Amino acid sequence: MKWMIVEKAEELAQVTYQLLKNEIERQDGNLTIGLATGSSPLGVYEEWRKDSLDCSNVTTVNLDEYIGLSPEHPQSYHTFMKTHLFDAVTFKQSYLPIGDTDDANQESERYERLVRELGVDLQLLGIGSNGHIAFNEPGTSFDATTHVTELTESTREANQRFFDQLEDVPSHAITMGLSTIMEAKKILLVASSARKAEAVRDMMEGPATIDCPATILQRHADVMIVLDEEAASLLSEEAKRTGRAAYENFK
Ligand code: GLP
Repeated sequence: MKWMIVEKAEELAQVTYQLLKNEIERQDGNLTIGLATGSSPLGVYEEWRKDSLDCSNVTTVNLDEYIGLSPEHPQSYHTFMKTHLFDAVTFKQSYLPIGDTDDANQESERYERLVRELGVDLQLLGIGSNGHIAFNEPGTSFDATTHVTELTESTREANQRFFDQLEDVPSHAITMGLSTIMEAKKILLVASSARKAEAVRDMMEGPATIDCPATILQRHADVMIVLDEEAASLLSEEAKRTGRAAYENFK
């Protein structure tokens, strides 16, 4: 794992977008990017919208979608992506799991095949405060492929801010599995705020365990984690020094 700790929170999105843009340019725009939802990538998408980068050959594939919400539903991840990125940036093709399906297991299998056929060159990730990535909650097997998952209460509560009330937050989602995510050639994870500090420490310094799904990333050969000081606050002093120095070098 490699990591950077930025000085100011606003630099987090700029740095993460720059890394993403470097990869798009390195591959002349011919690549597949895995995208995430939630608040973590919001600043990155804002940077992307402001830029005039040609993404007409870039394919995107999202991590997850709530079960029971149609693509047009205001809180669906389809709508989230449209609002924050797809309305402003033209991609070759963009994919998300279909959440309003009669057979979510079949949709999971279809999506798994699709992701593997596309092959993800760079996967953007956030992390949940309980260490989940995509919607792989604690206890999920490291071997899991795209599947139907029941959201934990803490995840539903954390995501309630996007809905009117807790009851409106769906109980289930279709998510790429941990093994699906691990197939990505490169992974770029962004985390900010003290809310993520414990999960970040466990992911980077704890033992690899299904109790903290993000620890599987320790086994990936090419992971870059971009943190603000608050998210990095529980890391060892040595890890903090390394992360700050990496940012100084990058600047
Ligand atoms: C959500 C998403 C994840 C996201 C995580 C953190 O439930 N499914 O992809 O990374 O939880 O969310 P946030 O960035 O809003 O803190």
